[in-house]
Amino acid sequence: MILVTGGAGFIGSNFVLDWIASTDEPVVNLDVLSYSGNLRNLASLDGNTRHVFVRGDICDRPLIDQLLAEHRPRAIVHLAAESHVDRSIHGPGAFLRSNVEGTFVLLEAARAHWSGLAAAEREAFRFLHVSTDEVFGSLEPEAPAFTETHCYDPSSPYAASKAASDHLARAWHRTYDLPVVTTNCSNNYGPYQFPEKLIPLTIVNALAGKALPVYGDGLQVRDWLYVGDHCSAIRTVLERGRVGEVYNIGGWNESANIDTVRCVCNLLDELRPDPAGSYDRLIRFVADRPGHDRRYAIDARKIGRELGWQPAETFETGIRKTVEWYLTHVDWVREVQSGSYRDWVAQNYATRTAGPA
Ligand code: NAD
Ligand code: TYD
Repeated sequence: MILVTGGAGFIGSNFVLDWIASTDEPVVNLDVLSYSGNLRNLASLDGNTRHVFVRGDICDRPLIDQLLAEHRPRAIVHLAAESHVDRSIHGPGAFLRSNVEGTFVLLEAARAHWSGLAAAEREAFRFLHVSTDEVFGSLEPEAPAFTETHCYDPSSPYAASKAASDHLARAWHRTYDLPVVTTNCSNNYGPYQFPEKLIPLTIVNALAGKALPVYGDGLQVRDWLYVGDHCSAIRTVLERGRVGEVYNIGGWNESANIDTVRCVCNLLDELRPDPAGSYDRLIRFVADRPGHDRRYAIDARKIGRELGWQPAETFETGIRKTVEWYLTHVDWVREVQSGSYRDWVAQNYATRTAGPA
C-alpha cells in the first residue's frame, strides 16, 4: 500500500491511474479537491478496491495520523500542492499553507509513523517529495541546464513555496534520518491538465475561437515533459532512488512559448481544421507575468545514469497525444469550464467527508 497526496490533480491522477495499471499494489489517495482536483479523472477506478479515495487536507494532522495507522503505507508519494504561478501572484497565502505548512505536517506525521515501525519496515519506508524545476529560478539563454546541485533562486510565490518545502524535506532527512527522496521535474503536459496552464488553455481556447494569450514576447523557454513520463520517473525513483538524494526529471525538450503555441495551432489545423482559417490567427501578445522566468532547462542525466530512466515520448509524439486527448474528451473540458465537476463533488461528498475515526 502507498499513500498518494494530490492524486485527483493533473499529475496525481495520471500517477494513480498508471500505478493501478502497472502494479498490484493498492493506493490510498488523499486529496482536498481544490479547484484543480477532479474525481472525474479517476472515474475509470470506480468500484476498484485497490483505490481508496479520501477527501481531506494534508494540513490535517489527526487525519494523516489516522490514515497512516489504518493503512500502514510503505511509502508516501507527496504531490498535493497549489501549482499555478499566476494564481500564486494573485493570492500567495494558499501556497504557503498547502505547500509549506502541508508538507511540514506530512513530514511530521510520516516521521512519527516511521519511527514506530519495525526495523525492516523502517528500512523500506520512503517519503517521495515531488517538486519542480522552478525552485532554481531563471537560466540565461546559453547557460547549461539545471543539475541537482544548481543553487535555489525561486522567482514566484509558487516557486518560493516549493523551494521551502524542498528544504523542509531535505532537513527532515538530515536531522531525523527520515528516508526522503526528492524529484525536481520540468513543465508537464498531457491528459487531465487543468485549462489554466499554457498547453490546455491554448487547446480549449482555440477550439472555442477565443484569443490565445502569450505573455510578453513569447520567447520564454520551458522544457516540456509528457506527464506519463513523469509518472514512470516517479515509479523508478520510488523503486530504486537512493535515500536522501535528489533527482531532476526532464524530457530534453526546450521550446519557446510562442513555438509551443504555434505547434498546438498546427496540430489543431491538421486534426480539426477551422473554416475561418489557421488557429494561429487567434494568438495575442498580452502583458507579461511579473517576475517571469526567462528559461528553464533540466539536465536529466543523473536519473538516466543511476536509475536507467528515460522518457518514452518526444515532444512531437506527446503533444499529438495530448491534443488528440482534448479533442476526444470534450465532456471533461465542458464540465471543468462550467464548474459542474464541482457540483458533483459537493453532492457526492456532502455526507462523506473523511475525518479522524
Ligand atoms: P494540480 O493543481 O493539478 O493538482 C494538485 C492537487 O493537489 C489537486 O488535486 C488539489 O486538490 C490537491 N491539493 C492542493 N492542496 C491540497 C491540500 N492542502 N491537501 C490535499 N490536497 C491538496 O497540480 P499538478 O500540476 O498535478 O502538480 C502536482 C505536483 O507536481 C505539485 O507538487 C507540483 O508542484 C509538482 N510539479 C508540477 C509540474 C507541472 O508542470 N504541472 C511540474 C513539476 C512538478
Ligand atoms: P504555465 O503553464 O503557467 O507553467 P509555468 O508558469 O509553471 O511554467 O506557463 C508556461 C509558460 O507559458 C510560462 O512561461 C508562462 C506562459 N504562459 C503564457 O504565455 N500565456 C498563458 O496564458 C499562460 C497560462 C502561460
